[in-house]
Amino acid sequence: MMKIRQSAFGSEGRCGEEEKKVLTCPPVPRAHAGRARRSLIASIVCLGVLVVMTVSAMGNSIRGSRHDLSWFNQRGYGTETGPMQGATFNNYQEACIYCHTPHAANSTAAPMWNREMPDPSGYNMYSSPNFDSKVPDAPDGISLACLSCHDGTVAVDAVINKPRFHDFVDAGTHYKMSLEGTAGSESCGKCHNRQEGVYGGIGGAHDASIRYLTKDLRDDHPISLTYPTFDLDPGFNQPSLIKEDGGRAFLNGIQTFEGDKVQCASCHDPHNPDEQNMEGRDPFLRASNRNSALCLTCHAK
Ligand code: HEC
Ligand code: HEC
Ligand code: HEC
Ligand code: HEC
Ligand code: HEC
Repeated sequence: MMKIRQSAFGSEGRCGEEEKKVLTCPPVPRAHAGRARRSLIASIVCLGVLVVMTVSAMGNSIRGSRHDLSWFNQRGYGTETGPMQGATFNNYQEACIYCHTPHAANSTAAPMWNREMPDPSGYNMYSSPNFDSKVPDAPDGISLACLSCHDGTVAVDAVINKPRFHDFVDAGTHYKMSLEGTAGSESCGKCHNRQEGVYGGIGGAHDASIRYLTKDLRDDHPISLTYPTFDLDPGFNQPSLIKEDGGRAFLNGIQTFEGDKVQCASCHDPHNPDEQNMEGRDPFLRASNRNSALCLTCHAK
C-alpha cells in the first residue's frame, strides 16, 4: 500500500509547492495568529510560527501537524510548556505513540493500534433511502479508530502502552475532544469552544468545535458502508487497484478498506497534513479537493 500512496503524492509535487510557500508566505501565516499577536505572548508565538514553518518545510510529514500531539504547545506558543501538554493531557514526547505501538497492540481497528476504543453503541449513522448498500448501526474499522479521538468520548492520551524507555509527567487531567459539558468536565472545548467555553477566546484558543464530530454522524459524509459496484450503481467510478486488505484504490490514493468499505481514511491520510498546512489548517486529505476533484474521484457526476 505504501507504494501506491507514495506515487500518488510524489507525482503531484506537493512537497515542492510547500517549500515554495515557506519562502514566500507572509511572516504570520496562521489563521488565528492575528488574535494571538494582540496578546502578551506575541514574541513567543512568533518564534513558534518560525518553528512550525521549519517543520512544515519537511513536507507531507505528520511531525508538527495537528496530529502531532507532542507539538501542540510549540504550535501555540513556541515552547514545550503551555496550557495543554502536561496540563490537559500527557505529553509522551512522541508523535506516533498516541495512535500506534510497536508491541502488544490492539490491531482490530487499525495497524498496531495503541488506543482505547469508544463504545460502539450510541452512534447515529448517516443513512438515506437512496443508498445501494446497507449502513451498519455503528462505525467500524479505521473510522472507529479516528473516532477514538474525534467523537470526544475517549481522552486523547488514553493509550494502551505508554512510553517505556523514557520518563514523562502524568498530567493528572485527561481531556477529551468534546464541547464543554457539566462543570468540571475534562473537555478541550473548555478553551476551544469560543461561544460557550469558560476561557473562551482568552489566550486566543481557536474554535475547534467543527473537529469534534460527536457520536451523531448524521451530518458527516456516510462511512463504514460497502462501495457500490458498477452493476449496483453506475453513478460511481470504480477503483482500479486491488489492496491486500480487501479494499480497492484509485491512482490518486483515494481508497476503500477491509470489506471494500468507505471509511474516514478513504478521503483522509492521518499522516499527511496536506496542502493547507501553511494556512493553519491541516485537512489531511489524500487528494486535493480543488474543483471537487476528491469528490469526483468516486462520484461520477
Ligand atoms: C492520529 C493518529 C495517528 C498517528 C499520530 C499516527 N498514525 Fe499511523 N495510522 C493511523 C491510522 C488511522 C492508520 C490506518 C489508516 C491508514 O492506513 O492510513 C495508520 C496507518 C499507519 C501505517 C500502515 C499504513 C500505511 O500508511 O503504510 C503505518 C506504517 C503508520 N500508520 C505509521 C505511523 C508512524 C510511523 C507514525 C508516527 C510518525 C504514525 N503512523 C502516526 C493513525 C495515526
Ligand atoms: C490521538 C487522537 C486523534 C486521532 C486518533 C485522530 N485525530 Fe484527527 N485530530 C486530532 C486533533 C487533536 C486534531 C486538532 C484539533 C484542533 O484543531 O484543536 C485533529 C485534527 C484533524 C483534522 C484537521 C482539522 C482541520 O480543519 O485542520 C482532520 C481532517 C482529522 N483530524 C481527521 C482525522 C482522521 C480521518 C482520523 C483517522 C484516520 C483522525 N483524525 C484520528 C486528534 C486525533
Ligand atoms: C486551558 C485552555 C486550553 C485547553 C483546555 C486546551 N487548549 Fe489547546 N490551545 C489553547 C491555547 C490558548 C492555544 C494557542 C492558541 C491557538 O492556537 O488556538 C492552543 C492551541 C492548540 C492547538 C494548536 C493550534 C494551531 O493552530 O496550531 C491544538 C491542536 C490544540 N490546542 C488542541 C487541543 C486539544 C486536543 C485539547 C484537549 C486535549 C486542548 N487543546 C485543550 C488552550 C487550551
Ligand atoms: C468522502 C470523503 C470524506 C470522508 C469519508 C470523511 N471526510 Fe473528513 N473531510 C473531507 C473533506 C473534503 C473535508 C474538508 C476539508 C476542507 O474543507 O478543506 C473534511 C474535513 C474534516 C475535518 C475538518 C473540519 C474542518 O472543516 O475544519 C475533520 C476533523 C474530519 N474531516 C474528520 C473526519 C472523520 C473523523 C471522518 C470519519 C468519521 C471523516 N472525516 C470522513 C472528506 C471526508
Ligand atoms: C471514497 C469514495 C467517495 C468519495 C471520495 C466521496 N464519496 Fe460521497 N459517497 C460515497 C458512497 C459510497 C456513498 C453512499 C452512496 C450510495 O450507496 O448510494 C456516498 C454518499 C454521498 C452523499 C449522499 C447521497 C444520499 O443519497 O444521501 C453525498 C451528498 C455525497 N456522497 C457527497 C460527496 C461529496 C460532496 C464528496 C467530496 C467532499 C464525496 N461525496 C466524496 C463515496 C464517496
